[in-house]
Amino acid sequence: MARASREMQASGRASQLPASPIRRLAPLAEAAKERGIHVHHLNIGQPDLAPPESITRLLDRASSEELVYAPARGASDAVSAWQIYYSHHSVDLEREDILITAGASEALMLALLTTCDPGDDVLLPEPFYAPYKGLLSITGLNPIPVPSGPDFAPPDADLVRSLVTPNTRAMLICSPSNPTGTVYGQNDLEKVGAVAVENDFFLLSDETYREIVFDGPAAPSALAIPGLEECAVVIDSVSKRFNVCGLRIGCLASRNRAVIDAALEIAELRLAVPMIDQRAVVSALTSPRPYVDTVVEAYRERKDAVVKALRAIPGVVAHPPGGAFYVVADLPVDDAEAFSAWILREIAINDETVMLTPMSDFYATPGMGTSQVRIACVYNAETLARAVSIVGEALEDYPGRAG
Ligand SMILES: Cc1ncc(COP(=O)(O)O)c(C=O)c1O
Repeated sequence: MARASREMQASGRASQLPASPIRRLAPLAEAAKERGIHVHHLNIGQPDLAPPESITRLLDRASSEELVYAPARGASDAVSAWQIYYSHHSVDLEREDILITAGASEALMLALLTTCDPGDDVLLPEPFYAPYKGLLSITGLNPIPVPSGPDFAPPDADLVRSLVTPNTRAMLICSPSNPTGTVYGQNDLEKVGAVAVENDFFLLSDETYREIVFDGPAAPSALAIPGLEECAVVIDSVSKRFNVCGLRIGCLASRNRAVIDAALEIAELRLAVPMIDQRAVVSALTSPRPYVDTVVEAYRERKDAVVKALRAIPGVVAHPPGGAFYVVADLPVDDAEAFSAWILREIAINDETVMLTPMSDFYATPGMGTSQVRIACVYNAETLARAVSIVGEALEDYPGRAG
């Protein structure tokens, strides 16, 4: 057989994907486990809470009839369930406004593919959910970082306006935000929405954590803002609200039919999202409460415990979130990634250590977030407080402590 004339390497597109610090830190966590140390994974958004019983019951009863291809848009009863779900959030949608996806992750990819072309600019309030950077890279889009307001408030509309370029095609927001917990109120959405309408760009709104809000019933949806019918595209997911990250169900929703029709054409290439997963969440979607209320209360207690434990550590600044289930902390270190790696290598208190998420990856602006970490509230309050106290003890001994 003739030898390949060039090395068979992965594509430039694939190899240019930004490296993730989590991937760099993971081997250190594995090595700690091999040394018999228990690692508290404060780094991942994989909640420990039990899902609604209606979901596990349906999964137990799943039949072979559910092992068929679902329609590309989604199973009919599942699409109806999403319609009912949105009606509880003051959003009336037609079935044709909804496309069921494999989690918010697929919805994000479809949103970018159907609203933007390679080379377009996407406004990105920072810090943002770190995979946005990779999604923009793989779809050939340029992130235009938008600094948040004080305490991670939604960015000022005039600032957004000043960053619009002739190539701006979309702004990608997340509310409540992973990592900051920032919630865009009605007024915030109206203001950034007005800039989008004035400048003909799409407002892509990732509402994965919609119900996880500590002050009020739920974050308003971009789909509920009058005047944004053409530009608002919502990315949604059941992963966090029902604690079923492994089910892989989300949706893309917009009244802009051109966008959803184009997304459906792309979705036809991947054929279907698993029917069982779609059906399993029908009941939870149509009557999410009181389950989601218990979830919110659990996270309220947890984030309060984390903020309190962080504030007890000298030199640490904790940012209480308005929603979602993460807490951002400024640490007295110059390089939070080096500190996170050092903890995994050097620290074991009663055979326990912690894995943090260093936050430079959550920014597109070089040099930002270097002393910040994100803590995911995915354990009970007591365990979280103990895990944070390990960070405090580590800081006392850390040779690279700033100041
Ligand atoms: C803001 C945000 N968007 C999207 C996702 C992806 O969610 P899914 O599991 O639905 O793909 C996550 C997961 O952590 C997230 O935090």
